Amino acid sequence: MKIFNQISEMKAFIREQQASGNAVGFIPTMGALHEGHLSMVKRAAKENNIVVVSIFVNPLQFGKPEEADRYPANMEKDLKSAESAGTHVIFHPDVMEMYPEGYKTYIEVKEISDVLCGVKRKGHFIGVATVVLKLLNIVHPDRAYFGQKDAQQAVIIKQMVRDLNMDPEIIVSPTIRENDGLAMSSRNILLSELQRSNAAVMYRSLKKAIELVNKGISDCCRIKSEMEQILTNQANAEVEYISIVEAESLKEVKKIQGKVLVAVAVLFDSIRLIDNVTIEV
Ligand code: PAF
Repeated sequence: MKIFNQISEMKAFIREQQASGNAVGFIPTMGALHEGHLSMVKRAAKENNIVVVSIFVNPLQFGKPEEADRYPANMEKDLKSAESAGTHVIFHPDVMEMYPEGYKTYIEVKEISDVLCGVKRKGHFIGVATVVLKLLNIVHPDRAYFGQKDAQQAVIIKQMVRDLNMDPEIIVSPTIRENDGLAMSSRNILLSELQRSNAAVMYRSLKKAIELVNKGISDCCRIKSEMEQILTNQANAEVEYISIVEAESLKEVKKIQGKVLVAVAVLFDSIRLIDNVTIEV
């Protein structure tokens, strides 16, 4: 497995590969790789000749610099697991390589960045869209893979790629869950044993939504209130939002119709986790 820290070497490698007809699959990450990431690497290895994984903790998408510093990191473990899942290249630039002095360009995907996580995390999706655009320009993949767990991020990236006539196909991969239903996330490492077991309540609340819809209930107020009851009964869980939105436009809906996203954000002490399910009726 090759490791590139410089944009120029990453670009030169991709140019060579694509000139020889090799398809490139790309998984952008901030490291602390888990089964969710590795499932995308394995899928990309089946669908492409070359798999590139980027590991870059993007300071632009964190509210405060300390949050980026607190982001879990385990490079040695990441390299091993990325390689055994089928990665050919790790792109691991530093902050100055990505945002050199004098950097001035930011990408804003309007409206859909201001709802759900965007309400409390102002500017977060500007940071995400900016770094993803840069990474897609650098790696120039045929296919780029994003996790459904970050559903809003995936919708924003797809919109950006469409709006800016970019080439890569954006593939959204299913959420991988622990045995008790907790969605895999790099942040799970930060949870204490107790917080970790409490966090399973998020998926229980989402399963309640599925159960109610299966019983023919379509009133979102009723569904959200039953979900809220489950979440607020859990000690040390502070609900940030429970939302039911159209899966593509991310507009709040009152009644479940067509394809919707049921999404939650919950704080376990200071650790913020998100999860969602899509429901189609
Ligand atoms: O989902 C993530 O890990 C990040 O938001 C991403 C897409 C790598 C951009 O920094």
